[in-house]
Amino acid sequence: MRVLVTGGAGYIGSVVTEELLNDGHQVVVYDDLSKGHRAAVIADAEFVEGDLHNAKLLGDTLQHKEIEAVIHMAAYSLVGESCVNPAKYYNNNVVAGLTLLDAMIESDVKRLVFSSTAATYGEPDQQPISESAVTNPTNPYGETKLALERAMSWYDAAHGLRYASLRYFNAAGATEKCGEDHDPESHLIPIALQVAAGTRPHVEIFGDDYPTSDGTCVRDYIHVVDLARAHILALDALNASSRIYNLGCGGDGYSVQQVIDTVREVTGKEIPTSIGPRRAGDPSTLIASSAKIKEELGWQPKHQDLRVIVESAWRWKCEHPNGYGNQ
Ligand SMILES: NC(=O)c1ccc[n+]([C@@H]2O[C@H](COP(=O)([O-])OP(=O)(O)OC[C@H]3O[C@@H](n4cnc5c(N)ncnc54)[C@H](O)[C@@H]3O)[C@@H](O)[C@H]2O)c1
Repeated sequence: MRVLVTGGAGYIGSVVTEELLNDGHQVVVYDDLSKGHRAAVIADAEFVEGDLHNAKLLGDTLQHKEIEAVIHMAAYSLVGESCVNPAKYYNNNVVAGLTLLDAMIESDVKRLVFSSTAATYGEPDQQPISESAVTNPTNPYGETKLALERAMSWYDAAHGLRYASLRYFNAAGATEKCGEDHDPESHLIPIALQVAAGTRPHVEIFGDDYPTSDGTCVRDYIHVVDLARAHILALDALNASSRIYNLGCGGDGYSVQQVIDTVREVTGKEIPTSIGPRRAGDPSTLIASSAKIKEELGWQPKHQDLRVIVESAWRWKCEHPNGYGNQ
C-alpha cells in the first residue's frame, strides 16, 4: 500500500514509518517539522515538508503520490500548553485535521488510522479503561482529539470514510534508528534519562500521597514498536468498518516510583528526585484496557516489560546524546 504518514518526522510517526517500510509498504511522510526532525524521517520514505493547513499541497500529495491510506499522527500534544492556549490546539488538531479529511475525500482516499489519545476519557472511575467508558476530556488536548474523532464518524456516514481511532496514554521506548526527542520534554521516561545523562538535575515527582502501592501515580507505558504495530493492524482491518480501540500495557500499569527505580537499575545512575505537590487534574491511576483490539485484531504487544522499554530508550539516548540534533 502507498501510505501517507502525517507527523512522520515525530516520535511515534517515525517508528510507524519504519515498521510500514519493514512490511513492504511505500511511505510518504507529510510533516511541517514544527515539532519533528528531518533526521527522524527514515531514509526509504519520501518526505513532503508541509503544513496540514495547506489544502492544496495536501491534495496534490494525496493525488500525485497515489496515496491509498493515511495514518494521521500530526498534532500538538502538550496537555499543559493546551490549557493555557486552547486556540492553538483547536487550530492544529481540529481545523487542520478537517483540512486533511476534506483533502482525503476530494482525492478519494477513504482509509484513515488516527492517533487519538486516552485523554478523551478524562478521569473515569473504572480502571483499566475500556472503549465503553464515557468520554469526558478534562483538557483541550483531549477535547480536540475527541472532536476530530467525532467528525470522522460523520465523514464516514456522509462519505464512506473508514477510520480506526487508537486511544492510548504514554508511548515509550525506541528502536535502533528512532527515539524520543521532544522540546520541551514532558514524558517521565525521557526526563529520567536526561537526569541519568547529566543534562537535568533531578526528576520532580508530583505527589507521593496517592492511594497507590507506593503513593505515586500509576500510568500506562506502551513500547513505541507495539504501538506502531497496532496502527498497521488497524490499517489492515479497515476494509470492514470504522472502529475505536484502546491500547494499554496490559497489566496494572507502573507507578512513577517504579519507573524511576527501573531507570536507576538500567542506567546504573543515582537519579535524584524531589517531591512536589500534586498537579491539578492528575488522577491516581490511568490505564487503558487492550482487550478489544487483542480479541478483534489479535494485537499482541511484544515489548511490554518496563525494563525492556527503558533499556531501548537508554540505548538510543546513549547513541544520540543530543537527540536528532547531532545528525
Ligand atoms: N507520545 C505519546 O505518549 C502519545 C500518547 C497518546 C497519543 N499521542 C498522539 O500521537 C501522535 C504523535 O505523538 P508524538 O509523541 O510522536 O508527537 P510528536 O510531536 O513527536 O510528533 C508530531 C509530529 O507532527 C508534526 N506536526 C504537528 N502539527 C503539524 C501540522 N499542522 N502539519 C504538519 N505536521 C505537523 C510535528 O512536526 C511532529 O513531527 C500525536 O497525535 C499525539 O497526540 C501521543
